[in-house]
Amino acid sequence: MVERTGRVASKVALVTGAASGLGKATAERLAAEGAAVLIADIRAEAAEAAAGVIRDAGGRAEAHPLDVTSDESWQDAVVHAERAFGKLDIVVNNAGTADGGWIHKLSLERWRKVMAVNLDGVFLGIKHGAEAMKRNGGGSIVNISSVAGLVGIAEGASAYCASKGGVTLLTRAAALEFALLKNNIRVNSVHPGYMQTPMLEGVINTYREPDAARDALMKNEPMGRFGEPKDIANAVLYLASDEAAFVTGTQLVVDGGYIAK
Ligand SMILES: NC(=O)c1ccc[n+]([C@@H]2O[C@H](COP(=O)([O-])OP(=O)(O)OC[C@H]3O[C@@H](n4cnc5c(N)ncnc54)[C@H](O)[C@@H]3O)[C@@H](O)[C@H]2O)c1
Repeated sequence: MVERTGRVASKVALVTGAASGLGKATAERLAAEGAAVLIADIRAEAAEAAAGVIRDAGGRAEAHPLDVTSDESWQDAVVHAERAFGKLDIVVNNAGTADGGWIHKLSLERWRKVMAVNLDGVFLGIKHGAEAMKRNGGGSIVNISSVAGLVGIAEGASAYCASKGGVTLLTRAAALEFALLKNNIRVNSVHPGYMQTPMLEGVINTYREPDAARDALMKNEPMGRFGEPKDIANAVLYLASDEAAFVTGTQLVVDGGYIAK
C-alpha cells in the first residue's frame, strides 16, 4: 500500500464554494497535504475544472454540484463524499455571497438571499457534515466568517455583517454543543480581512470609480496589501488538522491587522 504523507494525510474533506477564490486555494492546500477533497460548488463546470487542477497535480479530488442553501443538495453531497472516498473528516463551509445594499434600499428578499447562502448554508453544512463525521468517530468543521463577522462595516454591508456575525456565534455554540455531546467534532471559524479574490474584485467593481475605491480600501490596510487566498488556506489547514486537536470554538482572524486598530 502506498503510504500517504502530509498534515491531513488520509483525511477526506468537503469544501464548499471551492470552484473559486479562498475555497479553491483551500481545497488545493488540503489536497497537497494528503487529503482527498470534494469540490462542492453551485457552479458545476467550474467545480470540475478545480478538481481537475488538483488531479493534474497528483492529488485526489472530485467535483460535486452543491447549492448550500438546500437541505436535499447537502444530503446528496455528503453521500457523494462518503461513496467516493469512504468517509468524511473535514467540512469547510466557505461558499458565500457579498450581495447586499444600503438598509433603506435593501429588500427583504435580497436580505434573505444573503442569509440563505452565508448563514443557512453554514448551518446545513454543520448539520449534515456532523452526521457523516459521527459515523467516522469525529472530525473538524471550519466555517469561513469574515472580519465583518466581528466588527461592523458601513456602505451597504449590513446583511453581510449580520450573516457573518451569525456564523461567528453559530460556530461557538456548535463547538460547545458538540463538546457536550462528546462526538469528537471540533468547530472553528476563520475571519479573513480583504482578500484578493473574484468576490473582492466584484465588490470593488460596484463602485462608480473602482480604482479610487481600491485605493481607499488599501489605505486602511495596516500591511499595505490585501491578503492572498493561500493565507486563508494555511489557516484552514491548521484548524482542519490534528495539530488543532484542543482548538474548538475559536475565531482565527487572518486580516493583516485590519481589526487590530
Ligand atoms: N474575498 C474576501 O475579501 C473575503 C473576506 C472575508 C470573507 N470572505 C468569505 O470567504 C468566502 C469565499 O469568498 P471568495 O472571496 O473566495 O469568493 P468567490 O466569489 O471567489 O467564491 C465564492 C464561491 O462560492 C460559490 N457559491 C456561491 N453561492 C453558492 C451556493 N449557494 N452554493 C454553493 N456554492 C456557492 C461560488 O460559485 C464561488 O465559487 C465567502 O464566504 C466570503 O464571504 C471573503
